[in-house]
Amino acid sequence: MRKKIALIGGGQIGQILAMLAAQQEMGDIVILDIPDYLDPIKGKALDLMEMAPHGNYDANITGTSDYKDIAGADVVIVTAGKPRQAGMTREDLLATNIDIITKVAEGVKANAPKAFCIVLTNPLDAMVYMFYKVSGFPKNQVAGMAGTLDTARFRAFLAMELGVSVTDIAGTVLGGHGPTMVPLPRLTTVGGVPLTDIADQALIDRVVERTREAGTEIVKLFGKGSAFFSPAWSAIVMAESYLKDKKRVLPCAALCEGEYGINGLFIGVPALFTAKGVEKIYEITLTDEEKAQLAATVVAVQKTVDECNV
Ligand code: APR
Repeated sequence: MRKKIALIGGGQIGQILAMLAAQQEMGDIVILDIPDYLDPIKGKALDLMEMAPHGNYDANITGTSDYKDIAGADVVIVTAGKPRQAGMTREDLLATNIDIITKVAEGVKANAPKAFCIVLTNPLDAMVYMFYKVSGFPKNQVAGMAGTLDTARFRAFLAMELGVSVTDIAGTVLGGHGPTMVPLPRLTTVGGVPLTDIADQALIDRVVERTREAGTEIVKLFGKGSAFFSPAWSAIVMAESYLKDKKRVLPCAALCEGEYGINGLFIGVPALFTAKGVEKIYEITLTDEEKAQLAATVVAVQKTVDECNV
């Protein structure tokens, strides 16, 4: 039997998620959105069914506003909620998106209690925490998509600056999904060569800063709404590693319970993605400077979580 992917939210990111999940033949796809958006969601699902003959995939793709239709989902990917507009921070979305995530977590808990859940809604670290609290799911069953995207952005900017293939750049970004995130140039390699051996400090600083503000750079260009292609692919990579037990090590917002000295927060850390979900968090030995940066990002995430009052 085919796997089932439920996409909660079928807006900009949700529609790209649906297309990528179909093209990757991850399984049948249900896109759930609010009743007011039911017809457009059904239209998007139908459009994707009609893309299948040339897209060369077999998948049943449907649109719904009824949580009963997500029953038995193997994976749930949540993008329900408002995106940023120009001039907004992710934290400005908190009040609106808390209510949405609460309803979504209740709906998923009641109808797809076994699903591995990936949350994209911003402010990410707080919204994935809310989802975890309201659903009551085990911690391995819930992850936030942030570090995978932040790392992709870091790698993309390095490839642009260095004029090398992006596929040869390996590195990671820790911390919250915002300007306090902690890219780790010291541990970044280009085809096995340490980044710090081939790039000067000015280039590294430029790329680190651009990575921290990458989401805002896109929001400014769009004027309305935020990035959707790259967040969608990052979530698909996480979902695929779970569904296919690929055992990928991906940075994501995972619940830390003592790792890195962090307790009870979802925050960006490298994690092992297997058929068990987030099976394990890897701890990196950090320098004092990196530890200080991580401590600052923890303060920022804690502040937003505290405002959720959960
Ligand atoms: N249940 C289901 N869907 C909902 C709900 C809800 N309670 N509330 C809103 N939605 C839907 C909207 O109707 C819309 O179709 O969520 C969708 C969000 O889509 P967009 O507005 O296009 O936003 P998008 O760019 O996809 O971003 C979604 O992800 O990266 C984050 O910051 C971003 O918080 C934002 C989220």
